Amino acid sequence: MKKIMLTGGKGFFCSRLADYYRDKYEFLVTDKEELDFTDAKAVDACVGEYRPDIIVHAGAIAVTDFCNQHPDVAHRINVDGAVNVAEAAAKYKSAMVFISSEQVFNGNTAGSPFQEEDEAVPNTVYGENKLEAEGLLRNILGELWIARFTWMFGLPERGKNMSNGILWDTLTKLWNQETIVASRHEFRGMAYVYETIANFERLFESPYGTYHLGATNNHSRYEIVEHIIRLLGMEDKLPQVLKEDTVKYLDHNRDVRLDTSKAKEAGMVWTDTWDAVEICLKEFGVIR
Ligand SMILES: NC(=O)c1ccc[n+]([C@@H]2O[C@H](COP(=O)([O-])OP(=O)(O)OC[C@H]3O[C@@H](n4cnc5c(N)ncnc54)[C@H](OP(=O)(O)O)[C@@H]3O)[C@@H](O)[C@H]2O)c1
Repeated sequence: MKKIMLTGGKGFFCSRLADYYRDKYEFLVTDKEELDFTDAKAVDACVGEYRPDIIVHAGAIAVTDFCNQHPDVAHRINVDGAVNVAEAAAKYKSAMVFISSEQVFNGNTAGSPFQEEDEAVPNTVYGENKLEAEGLLRNILGELWIARFTWMFGLPERGKNMSNGILWDTLTKLWNQETIVASRHEFRGMAYVYETIANFERLFESPYGTYHLGATNNHSRYEIVEHIIRLLGMEDKLPQVLKEDTVKYLDHNRDVRLDTSKAKEAGMVWTDTWDAVEICLKEFGVIR
């Protein structure tokens, strides 16, 4: 069995990944309590002892506003921490997956869907951190997959962390009777988290390099929220609960969609966001 070490192992993505592959891989799940990866010596000791075949470095501060407000903390965790993990991976001959983000393209005003080799222009500290870390890591080890994720969604599960995705955001706002404000000028690929997870075994067999991983989507954020509300059978509530954002992205669309052809050619598959939200709602028994 391949030995896989996870950082950020208790987060939204890795808590589901470890469970999904529990019979296929041996895991060392680490998160802040077990291993603070900003401590280079601790990382070296942990990797040196476990000797993983692959390290999936998912640990990060992924909250954009927090990173903008605390750039030093964000850099220490998102960049310096990733470097610590990469140096240990190189030293102990582990391969590494670095999870990056579509947000490296947040400042690009045209060119979507973006390919792996397109020049990325981030305009948030989080996006800058991810892009800087990608560059540093490429110089540290060759046995590296850089996996740039689109935004993901899922639903809460016992013992697993949740993060904000389009589906859970919409459901919680409906329950709390909050108005949902969404833009017709914002476009993102939004992937069902379990589809990205299911593609990881294929990623591990693919040549090292950078990959765009996630769903394609031809609909605006507004249209996807409207679609979710209709799927829930609540279309009569639409006029009260969903409002169009008339402030953001009027000059030009926010469009961070990724071209995932390279991953698809390597055998990875995703359902388009439109159908994927329905699959998720059905899998969790929210709708029939
Ligand atoms: N979720 C998405 O839609 C999405 C989209 C694109 C890219 N990504 C990337 O995918 C990866 C996983 O995302 P996620 O949604 O699973 O994030 P998450 O739920 O926030 O998980 C990240 C985990 O890393 C931990 N962590 C932070 N600093 C650490 C440190 N110094 N040492 C050890 N652990 C630390 C966090 O602990 P605390 O919670 O206690 O800080 C958290 O448990 C991240 O790299 C993220 O940037 C996610």
